[in-house]
Amino acid sequence: MTFETDAAGERLPNGERRRWWKEAVVYQVYPRSFADSDGDGVGDIRGIVDRVGHLDDLGVDVVWLNPVYESPQADNGYDIADYRAIDEQYGTMADWEELLDTLHDHDIRLIMDLVVNHTSDEHDWFQNALTSRDADYRDYYIWREGRDAAEVDETYDVGPDGEVPPNDWESFFGGPAWAYHEATGEWYLHLFDRKQPDLNWENPDVRDDVFEMMNWWIEKGIDGFRMDVINLVSKPEGLPSTDPEAGIRTIDRVTNGPRVHEFLGEMRDRVLDRGFLTVGEMIGDPLPGEHARRYVSPGPDGDGLSMLFHFEHVLLDRGERIWETTDWDLTDLKAVFDRWQAAFADEGWNSLYLNNHDQPRMVSRFGNDGEYRRESAKLLGTLLHTLRGTPYVYQGEELGMTNYPFESLDDFRDVGTLNPVRTALDRGVVESFDAVKEALRANSRDNARTPVQWSDEEHAGFSDAEPWISVNPNYDEVNAEAERADEDSVYHYYRRLVEFRHENDVVVYGDYDPLTPDHESLWAYTRTLGDERLFVVLNFADEATTYDAPAELVGDATLALGNYDDDDGVDETLDLRPWEARVYRTR
Ligand code: GLC
Repeated sequence: MTFETDAAGERLPNGERRRWWKEAVVYQVYPRSFADSDGDGVGDIRGIVDRVGHLDDLGVDVVWLNPVYESPQADNGYDIADYRAIDEQYGTMADWEELLDTLHDHDIRLIMDLVVNHTSDEHDWFQNALTSRDADYRDYYIWREGRDAAEVDETYDVGPDGEVPPNDWESFFGGPAWAYHEATGEWYLHLFDRKQPDLNWENPDVRDDVFEMMNWWIEKGIDGFRMDVINLVSKPEGLPSTDPEAGIRTIDRVTNGPRVHEFLGEMRDRVLDRGFLTVGEMIGDPLPGEHARRYVSPGPDGDGLSMLFHFEHVLLDRGERIWETTDWDLTDLKAVFDRWQAAFADEGWNSLYLNNHDQPRMVSRFGNDGEYRRESAKLLGTLLHTLRGTPYVYQGEELGMTNYPFESLDDFRDVGTLNPVRTALDRGVVESFDAVKEALRANSRDNARTPVQWSDEEHAGFSDAEPWISVNPNYDEVNAEAERADEDSVYHYYRRLVEFRHENDVVVYGDYDPLTPDHESLWAYTRTLGDERLFVVLNFADEATTYDAPAELVGDATLALGNYDDDDGVDETLDLRPWEARVYRTR
């Protein structure tokens, strides 16, 4: 199969350039939890090959595969020990090649996860770096001497007596971001787990090796990369501590560093300038507009990524810590999306997601996973597929999968949940599991990582063996087999959404204009391209809501898509049922 690189895509009536990745729907596969073919309780690549039919029927265009590289799995593969090998747990390189070929045979492209802010501590580079202060690969990582404990007003329970870490940065998984290495008497930086040492991108050899590795995967025939925490690769000069008085936290210090655009520009020139789908994960809140623009701008001062993932909407209900939640309301959510739709109205492109492997299930978070599970899952799907940008469907989302009812800390597997909670329990910052149970149920990444529910058989048809993490007990009701058998299911609605996008340029390229930014439960907007217009109205509520729609929009509107099975007619007064979503074609 060959894909044109569309380097100079045709222009649409509003000036937008046609690109294959703008028209695509991406489906995210988290291999550990997708399908287990060899009965060890862990998903694998052959399991994905066996299920390509599911993806093909859904109609998606691209698979983003979470890491399958050789890894000790401290962070489920985001700790890579060998970038050019497949982890045994997931299969072999031959299995991976078969997956690529099978996907391509079905006209589905494959993008791989690029995790190059850090490696595993078991990577050969790091193992070499540990041998001495002047080891060949020492400078591939970020090493510093500790500070004199007597001179700082901080307490730590790590490192040798009298010494504290080089600065006060905290790991995103809790505790200090530095680990002490006794044999060489220095500390290395790890912004995530201590088994994930940060690479030193200042060293040109690191960049050479990373770019060479990327080209190696491209030669194998992949279609792009999802770039893990890519806005962390350039660290600030001097690695200054945080400044609580000025409100500067670790994350503010380490994101969008001074050389990040230079590094990404180099990557663009040496690897990516060929029409791939590239999506950069940009952590931090907010993501400064000037940086956002540069990351995705195709212009001469842009890094040329296709799109980015920002975090602003998925941080609305989060406190500083994983055991803290805050309230969100629909006006906040709309404000975030409206701002991002406007930011890339003329240049740049949005990715559209409401959940992924790091976020709880969207129907539990933004919808109603009880009485209106189906309706709200479809409504959220309608939103994702009718905003301007490329939609990302996270495995199981198309089945309306929900959060897991966690009962104890033993139910969790994720370092990003366990590390901070255990540290907080040890230090007495958190009293007991029960005190944080509700928040963890709402926030934990493990909500997304329970096995995909394929059927109502044992282990939800995911595996013959006990899975590595429990199956959601609602699998007897929520599963792919039941969804496929029911024309009215979330799954079939998603198929229609994908098809709708493929058949209508206005869905992909149309301008976005919000109509109800201040309404507490309605989100209405239009999408316009030339003389085509869509009018979308979504009722984010368990109650019916009436909307006095602008007369010119409803005049000759016809319903193109909706999540209730009957057409309730169109009038200036629209009576929307709970979680009702309607997409009209209008003028
Ligand atoms: C990203 C990944 C997440 C991982 C982290 C460290 O945020 O999505 O799963 O834990 O980076 O690699």
